[in-house]
Amino acid sequence: MSKLFEAIGFVENPLYETIIDDISSKKYSIVDSFFTDEETNLLRQSLIEKHEKDTFKKAAIGNKLNETIVKSIRGDVILWIDETKNDASELLFFNKINDLIAYLNRTCFMGILHKEFHYALYPQGTFYKRHIDTFENDDRRKLSFVCYLNEDGWLPENGGELVLYLNENNKPVEKVIYPIPGRVVIFESQLIEHEVKPVNKERLSITGWLKTR
Ligand code: OGA
Ligand code: MN
Repeated sequence: MSKLFEAIGFVENPLYETIIDDISSKKYSIVDSFFTDEETNLLRQSLIEKHEKDTFKKAAIGNKLNETIVKSIRGDVILWIDETKNDASELLFFNKINDLIAYLNRTCFMGILHKEFHYALYPQGTFYKRHIDTFENDDRRKLSFVCYLNEDGWLPENGGELVLYLNENNKPVEKVIYPIPGRVVIFESQLIEHEVKPVNKERLSITGWLKTR
């Protein structure tokens, strides 16, 4: 750790440093230990409870001003999370997110000023075709963040892989990522095209974006 950091009482966080290194070298990071099993279970219960109350909506494409529902592109249902509601499991989620944001802003001057997160549930047979997470009329999304809340691991026959379309040494590479519980994937929203393959079993997650001004 640098003398300057020591002098101001800054404590380096190895997990966050790995995320930062990954993103600067590969534009994405996969973290299997971001949320504990207990936290993942609480968040899954919260998702299921809210979904049972029928509060989820068909996900749209475009942004909040310019939404269209096109089932041939994506078939998940979502519920935006309101941090000010003070739901216990969501507070725990936002504590970690806010801590990460503070670290990114302090060490990398990322300028993250806003965030938005939603629960997502992909019913059997749904998918999200290859896309990028930024819109023509809004490029503030800087980092995409996905956290998987499925129960009991995830078998290959369940489908629902996240595929990142990368370019390594001028060669196209498809990075296949299974939505295993507790796993977090973070990637550069403006750079990485990606897709959710058709799911054969209900698939649960929280997806969100860290945004600049
Ligand atoms: C999205 C998305 C990926 C995933 O919601 O924009 O690409 O793995 N999600 O759920
Ligand atoms: Mn996406």
